[in-house]
Amino acid sequence: MAIEAVKVSVTINGLEKSAKVEPRMLLAHFIRDELALTGTHIGCDTSQCGACSIIVNGDVVKSCTILAVQADEAEITTVEGLGTVDNLSPMQKGFWEEHGLQCGYCTPGVMMAMMGLLKENPNPTDEEIRIGLEGVICRCTGYQFIVSAVKHAARLIAEEKSEPAEDTSVVKEGISS
Ligand code: FES
Ligand code: FES
Repeated sequence: MAIEAVKVSVTINGLEKSAKVEPRMLLAHFIRDELALTGTHIGCDTSQCGACSIIVNGDVVKSCTILAVQADEAEITTVEGLGTVDNLSPMQKGFWEEHGLQCGYCTPGVMMAMMGLLKENPNPTDEEIRIGLEGVICRCTGYQFIVSAVKHAARLIAEEKSEPAEDTSVVKEGISS
């Protein structure tokens, strides 16, 4: 008997997307195969490596551990939602400027996991970062560079927050006059 497809709708990186999928489809496959967002990697498919980590409704989730249907109506951020090539986010800049990757396979998952860590703890110690990295495995094992990258990202995020908001009064005055 054919399995009936189910419609799954999500808001992903600020865009509303939906697709009809088999109820057994994992969220990781839904994101990669149905939504063509291949920045989310699959390393093990068995919740071990963390390469598939994304943010679902504000929490870091290994997307191979839940079904797409369980994420129906969810708000999702993947690595593609962090920034663009021309406008890297602080997390991406941290990895770029501190050489926080080697082959890069684990990197999207590591960055999403670290987004979760910095949300909870904006100024983590090396040890706290290492503990936060427990769920994401880097086969290249360059962990010291990853720790440096996350610390740099934390600094960049703090700097961004401390910058005064852009003064738009001149523009507003111009519009109203
Ligand atoms: Fe999901 Fe490895 S692919 S944890
Ligand atoms: Fe190669 Fe992490 S950089 S697996």
